Amino acid sequence: MNQSATNKATTEEAAARRFRENLRAVPGRLRETMFRSGEPRTDRTRSAFVFGNVFLHLHAVRAHRWSLRWPTTWGLGIGALSSLFVLIFTGVLLMFYYKPYPDVAYLSIKDIHYVVPTGRFIRNIHRWSANLMVVIVLLHMARVFYTAAYRAPREFNWVIGMGLLALTLGLSFTGYLLPWDQLAYWAITIGANIAQSPREVTDALGITEWFDVGGIQKLLLLGAEEVGEEALIRFYLFHVMILPLLLVALMTVHFWRIRKDGGLARPADADNRLGSPSSDVYPVFTEAPQKTYSLAALVKGRTPAVGSGPEQTIPAMPHLMIAEAAVFMLTVALSVILALFLDAPLKEVANPAVPENPAKAPWYFLGLQELVSHSAFMGGIGIPSIVLIGLALIPYLDRETEGTGIWFGGPGGGRLVLHSAIFGLAAVLAIEAFVIRFGWIRQWWTATPQLVITLINPGTLLTLLYACYSLWSLKKYDSTRAGALALFTCFVCGFVVLTVIGTYFRGPNWDFYWSPSQWPGH
Ligand code: HEM
Repeated sequence: MNQSATNKATTEEAAARRFRENLRAVPGRLRETMFRSGEPRTDRTRSAFVFGNVFLHLHAVRAHRWSLRWPTTWGLGIGALSSLFVLIFTGVLLMFYYKPYPDVAYLSIKDIHYVVPTGRFIRNIHRWSANLMVVIVLLHMARVFYTAAYRAPREFNWVIGMGLLALTLGLSFTGYLLPWDQLAYWAITIGANIAQSPREVTDALGITEWFDVGGIQKLLLLGAEEVGEEALIRFYLFHVMILPLLLVALMTVHFWRIRKDGGLARPADADNRLGSPSSDVYPVFTEAPQKTYSLAALVKGRTPAVGSGPEQTIPAMPHLMIAEAAVFMLTVALSVILALFLDAPLKEVANPAVPENPAKAPWYFLGLQELVSHSAFMGGIGIPSIVLIGLALIPYLDRETEGTGIWFGGPGGGRLVLHSAIFGLAAVLAIEAFVIRFGWIRQWWTATPQLVITLINPGTLLTLLYACYSLWSLKKYDSTRAGALALFTCFVCGFVVLTVIGTYFRGPNWDFYWSPSQWPGH
């Protein structure tokens, strides 16, 4: 072999060796290029891990120890997010088989339920997670309210949260129609009638011919006069595309705002309340500072306050991530357990000629349906609008600071909440019992004009009583927060009682029955 041939062989061998080495190094390099900051073992690399990840960087790099206590949030916000993940995952799987056309929709759901392997399980998980998400979002909202965590600078995040609540309910409602069975068909018919309820007023004023807001709302919702194929495709599109996209977009803003607002709300003296961390807690920020200049970033106030000690923050990675993973697993476990033991309902195929009696809206609208039975307009539009506007205004009216970040914090505190709960329950139970036993104006004087019924009905009376009690509390404690605590608690009680009555005690023709076994025809 001559010299040039030998050189060529050596070069080829070296190239082959380099290639083999590079090949062997691929897994390590892949990891390095994915996680550029190295393993998250030190404060610096932990921070870089969060910064360098498009999903995680919505988190702050460090979290206050107060935010990580279970009673601060009960993990409800992350629970809601976890339910959404479960819903998207199972929803996409269901889309492989579901067909959004009236003649095949029901059959495709039946296939999913009875034929497709694991189809019933996936459908059950989807159904129960949807209900779970509604419950968790409502509880999360209550926790934010009761810890006064909506106050400055978080006012706008509260408003965004209300958008999230509306989208969550919208998603659940639009999904309700898709099985195209009797339950779905008549529940959505009830929903559409609620949308049409302004007609109660426009009819009474004789202006429906020119100004039919109710009719337009119903038409926009259904795409036709009745629930049919236009409604189904509309609901499907909203359910699988428009609402999820809006929800994810708004949720991203919600999380980003939490970060920009300085993490979760906490009491001004949270550091003192927490005391020193126990020995198994990763050292709080710079227990042993290496560099003196970092003190400027550690202490509160406008001037260097060397004596005041470091803030009690710990790295989000791994502490917050572990807590979030735990909540995620709990939420998934709950949905799976429910799905294993309870089947999602599926009645006969939708039949527009055979109305369900009673036809009931989804459970979270049954409180409204109860109010609608007293006055369609007040129950469907009037009172919900008052409640929504009232809720949105809370953070802008309550400009106080006492009790921020503390359960039932603020003047009156837990005692006021207890008294308001007693008042709220007593008022709604008394009014409902009266109406069920003795009827209302229309039954006593049949010729009563509709506008009088719209204005004076059990729903408006209840709202008025709650408002008066709230004003009284506001004056008694000389505090807007006290008024808000009273009003919110009363409305929670009203919502729960009306929902329970609508769910369990209303039968055919929306008459009151102690049990479904007493329904006529049983
Ligand atoms: C899809 C629905 C929602 C999701 C996924 C969500 C998620 C979250 C998460 C993860 C947090 C931080 C941790 C926690 O509080 O658990 C949070 C905080 C917050 N949320 Fe929500 N949320 C939702 C709906 C709402 C609603 C309905 C409201 C109120 C109307 C609301 C208002 C707030 C506020 C003001 C904060 C800051 C609380 C604080 O600083 O302590 N959110 N949310």
